[in-house]
Amino acid sequence: MNTFITFEGVEGSGKSTQIKRLGDYLERENIPVVLTQEPSGTPIGRKIGDILFHRENVALCPETELLLFLAARAQHVREVILPALQSGKTVLCDRYSDATFAYQAAGRGLDPAFVAAANDYCAMQVKPALTILFDLPVEIGLARAGSRDARRKDPAAADRFEREKIDFHDRVRQAYLNLYAANPERFRLIDASKSEDEIESCVRGHVMKFIHQQQ
Ligand SMILES: Nc1ncnc2c1ncn2[C@@H]1O[C@H](COP(=O)(O)OP(=O)(O)OP(=O)(O)O)[C@@H](O)[C@H]1O
Ligand SMILES: [Mg+2]
Repeated sequence: MNTFITFEGVEGSGKSTQIKRLGDYLERENIPVVLTQEPSGTPIGRKIGDILFHRENVALCPETELLLFLAARAQHVREVILPALQSGKTVLCDRYSDATFAYQAAGRGLDPAFVAAANDYCAMQVKPALTILFDLPVEIGLARAGSRDARRKDPAAADRFEREKIDFHDRVRQAYLNLYAANPERFRLIDASKSEDEIESCVRGHVMKFIHQQQ
């Protein structure tokens, strides 16, 4: 039984908001759950994330970016995801392998076949059984992320990815939609322009149906 669920989508599409809401709900239902995220799901991953997101790291080349995300994934799978799945927990992960195909293959233009092989090596065949994809026009997501960062007065506000051009984000969005079209049994598509409450109820519906099918 695979209870690994991933949340994917463009910047500011509401992944972190909804993973928290779903996690709280599952806890209230006494379903053992672990919430985690990439690349910062482990202490080592957080250090790797500092390099990846820091807006001053303009020299970071796409190949380095790919390998750093995959290094964080290798650590995350072995240290957090696999042990949690093996102990019978449902794992909710904010971004995973689909993000690597969307951002580093489609967004940066790296070879998808190489990305797939390197990802398999790092992820040890740990694949999500269910992926919730938050889709919305990238301008709206970037605007939401921008106001969030301003509210938090985060020193890393507007990270390296948020500062990318609209083109880049459009390629990422389209790549996610292509992944959805190619894997309809795994993906659930969410219209992320709806309200937080409406989305919460869609996500909960999809996930509870999935969990009941697993039992
Ligand atoms: N459905 C919604 N409608 C309007 N605003 C929303 C909605 N969902 C989330 N937000 C707000 O948009 C901002 C971005 O949301 P959130 O951080 O959850 O997105 P994210 O997908 O995790 O972003 P990132 O890709 O940067 O991690 C937050 O300020 C959040 O409160
Ligand atoms: Mg987030």
